[in-house]
Amino acid sequence: MALYSEKVMDHFRNPRNVGVIEDASGVGEVGNPVCGDIMKIYLKINDEQIIEDVKFETFGCGSAIASSSMATELIMGKPVSEALQLTNKAVTEALDGLPAHKLHCSVLAEEAIKSAVKNYYDNNGIEYDPKDFPDPEVEACHMH
Ligand code: FES
Repeated sequence: MALYSEKVMDHFRNPRNVGVIEDASGVGEVGNPVCGDIMKIYLKINDEQIIEDVKFETFGCGSAIASSSMATELIMGKPVSEALQLTNKAVTEALDGLPAHKLHCSVLAEEAIKSAVKNYYDNNGIEYDPKDFPDPEVEACHMH
């Protein structure tokens, strides 16, 4: 069996939603302290708290690129509350799996989205439960 699924290869070769949103409602950036890879997510959110646009920049491995590409597709057009529920497991499943030693790359996507939503909440004075936003650095260290 191939190490990477066709979906992973597809999203790695043709990543969706790459780029920057200049007037983003929320921006999130997370890094994995171990591999040094960085992921940045931009969200454009309307008054109904629907994600109208999402873009990403990833300076990282192929699995991180495929994960961010898939994650942006999964939250596009969705309410913010739903994007917050997106787990790295859901991203991995949507990609038809990742090798075990690459699972942490999909965690980066989950955390970058959470961090962007938190930034959006902060920008707009919207209250939230801090429990929804565990410290990404701490989480990433637990992966290793
Ligand atoms: Fe660092 Fe994949 S190896 S995110």
